Amino acid sequence: MNSDELMSVAQSIVAADKGVLAADESGPTIKKRFDAVGVESTEENRRRYRELLFTTEGIESAIGGVILYDETLRQAGADGTPFATLLAGRGISPGIKVDQGAKALALYPGDKVTAGLDGLRERLAEYKQLGAQFAKWRAVIDIDERDIPSRYAVQANAHALARYAALCQEAGLVPIVEPEVLMDGAHDIERCEAVTSQVLQAVFAELDAHRVLLEGMLLKPNMVIAGMKCARQADARQVAEATLRCLRRHVPAAVPGIVFLSGGQSAEEATANLNEMNKMGPHPWQVSFSYGRALQAPVLAAWKGQESNAPAAQAALAKRCRLNRLARTGDYAPDLEALD
Ligand code: 13P
Repeated sequence: MNSDELMSVAQSIVAADKGVLAADESGPTIKKRFDAVGVESTEENRRRYRELLFTTEGIESAIGGVILYDETLRQAGADGTPFATLLAGRGISPGIKVDQGAKALALYPGDKVTAGLDGLRERLAEYKQLGAQFAKWRAVIDIDERDIPSRYAVQANAHALARYAALCQEAGLVPIVEPEVLMDGAHDIERCEAVTSQVLQAVFAELDAHRVLLEGMLLKPNMVIAGMKCARQADARQVAEATLRCLRRHVPAAVPGIVFLSGGQSAEEATANLNEMNKMGPHPWQVSFSYGRALQAPVLAAWKGQESNAPAAQAALAKRCRLNRLARTGDYAPDLEALD
């Protein structure tokens, strides 16, 4: 393991007010996104769409890393340049999703654990060869009224995340450690804070036990936010306060960056919440983004698979990049949405 290289890649992804574009939708997930805008999910349409994202002018000033899916890491632009080479040439680190999805946790109805540790060492070696500089593994923690998540599900997911992170560092890849507490339920923001605290406490205990170099990783958590079906929704200030309180209690200052997932928030909400947190800075870590839907939803809506819509789709991505970059320094304001 080359600690200097790991630290330098981790820092560069979140340097200069940058963040991450999560473009690592698995086959079924990208199909869902394409279905919503009437695009058939063929390999060529997926390639065309990802090329549109990666060739958008100017994104490198806001994007330090892009997370790819296995198929995408093996694909190339129309001129034959592999996507990993294209991105690296623009100063953007290519990354790879390496987990194999959340599966039912045996004997714990309703809980999930993420699969993908078997054969991971060999897959990481290949991904490194293909040009990946970092990796991502997502643990999924659901919340219900009472028993979900169980203590054991939190523990099992934390353990898997740490096993993955250690294997990544052994292979010379920066691990993005993603424990996602879902915002799907009817729970209030207090419950989300309690569960997120429990999850982060378990994750950092396991990372420590597995000897993971904190300076050579990034954390990708959920924001502390009320469930989508909760009648009492918190405003950006409440979300920022609860999220920062929770992170300060559990995330060591040695971690170079926190890159939030958007998790079902609208593009505008995700930007506003990030902005609010950075207004409350400085923080011990870079407070940044690794958005999938919050960067791509407006792009897909503009594109709809039509070549003639490509300029509008790229403009939509460029706009979200610009606004999230402003949110990295607390300089975003909702009225910029209309001006841009
Ligand atoms: P969202 O921002 O759409 O939650 O996606 C981020 C991600 O990579 C989830 O694993």
